[in-house]
Amino acid sequence: MDAGLLEPQTEAVKKEKMDSQVIFELSKPGKRSFVFPKCDVPLTDVKQIIPEKYLRQTKPELPEVGELEIVRHYTNLSRKNFSIDTHFYPLGSCTMKYNPKIHEEVVKFPGFSHLHPYAPEAWSQGVLQVLYDLEQSLCEISGMDRVSLQPAAGAHGELLGLLLARAYHTEISGNPRKKVILPDSAHGTNPSSAHIAGYEVVTIKTDANGEVDIKQLKELADEETAALMITNPNTLGLFERQILEIQKIMHDVGALLYYDGANLNPLLGVARPGDMGFDIVHINVHKTFTTPHGGGGPGAGPVGVKERLIKYLPTPTVEKVGDKYTLKHDNPDSIGKIRSFVGSVGILIRAYTYIRSLGQEGLEKVGKGAIINANYLLAKLKKVYTLPHDRICMHEFVISSKGVGKDLHALDVAKRLIDMNIHPPTIYFPLIVPEAIMVEPTETESKQTLDDFVEAMTQIVKESNENPELLHQSPQTMPITRPDETAAARQPKLRWRPE
Ligand SMILES: Cc1ncc(COP(=O)(O)O)c(C=O)c1O
Repeated sequence: MDAGLLEPQTEAVKKEKMDSQVIFELSKPGKRSFVFPKCDVPLTDVKQIIPEKYLRQTKPELPEVGELEIVRHYTNLSRKNFSIDTHFYPLGSCTMKYNPKIHEEVVKFPGFSHLHPYAPEAWSQGVLQVLYDLEQSLCEISGMDRVSLQPAAGAHGELLGLLLARAYHTEISGNPRKKVILPDSAHGTNPSSAHIAGYEVVTIKTDANGEVDIKQLKELADEETAALMITNPNTLGLFERQILEIQKIMHDVGALLYYDGANLNPLLGVARPGDMGFDIVHINVHKTFTTPHGGGGPGAGPVGVKERLIKYLPTPTVEKVGDKYTLKHDNPDSIGKIRSFVGSVGILIRAYTYIRSLGQEGLEKVGKGAIINANYLLAKLKKVYTLPHDRICMHEFVISSKGVGKDLHALDVAKRLIDMNIHPPTIYFPLIVPEAIMVEPTETESKQTLDDFVEAMTQIVKESNENPELLHQSPQTMPITRPDETAAARQPKLRWRPE
């Protein structure tokens, strides 16, 4: 590790910070990057073609800059980013692993990238075959009978899954049922999806072992329960050892078991949600199957179901008839469409490339590697941080800064790590652990990187004893330090406007 990065803010760093704020505004009247060809339409005609009310009365307020300045502006902005390609990114619950570059090559093949979604089936056989084979692979990996590739994200998959549960209950008993049970460690999208699907959310406690409280589950599960939504391993990174009993409790009252697949990575080649009794599964391909996380851009959250739910899946489904691939639109029991066309095809091709390039043997190594890396870090970090549940973890674990160092908060740890060129882990989640720091190293990191992380985390504890103010003022190497994160999320400034 570069010891210089651990030093308090230097004059050079302060200057760089100020410069980066000052040079943001580059516009000067008259500068140009592009010169339009001379207009060959008589301007007097414009008013006859475009009605007066649509004509702009004032000049557009656009930045006026040269081409080189634009290139430098965006290149410099991109260099301020943390990304998997530039930094270690142990963001728990997000599986920020290396995205192999071969995916980008494959998705650019003209047969994929030049294909229009309305192209006739006869011209789209290649891409349909990829989608069909991907569905088969995801069925095999998750232990489900069919998979819809349509949802555009994990959260979108959750909504689809619960709409399928609603359709199922409504058909078999005329009653969609009222509630969805969720653990208190659940990701925020779970209650939101249940709410949007029209269900009341009932929370179940986590027990002293960090698992679903079986006693309370028995009390809560009844004929009005539509589903239990859990992830396994759960968001504490712990395997739910009572999963077979949990599925029996739910199925005995006629409820469905929903698997939040955000934590599927460590199960690859090790275990399958379908074999644990789950009826519905969503898969976050940007986590387990290395498609780009994409900052909210087009993504995919395929949803797998067991046999009895297949008929409710959205249309169209990709089918194989003889040796031809086709899209089936007519499914009278389908809940309808939830996404245009067949889903985010470019993303799905990347996931398919990942699966095919690793094969069964490679995927098995992924799951086991993720578990080994996480346990290596856990064994080292529990000597320095508080560990609320001292157990072998799966692919991630939650430690806490409570009672560690002097006035050391999870936020201080996260911010100081930025100065050390490491992306912060997830903090303050799950909500049930005070000062939670959730670390997910993933299988793609080397032992050297993990050791550097341990060194950085240990150094932070030392600093908190020796110089707590340094931590409270971190990061010191970034143009902005501690923004109001709530305001940044709720009132984001997404558009440049001239001063
Ligand atoms: C446990 C868990 N469930 C669900 C989600 C939602 O997935 P997505 O971000 O794809 O909507 C996440 C995302 O981080 C998660 O960690």
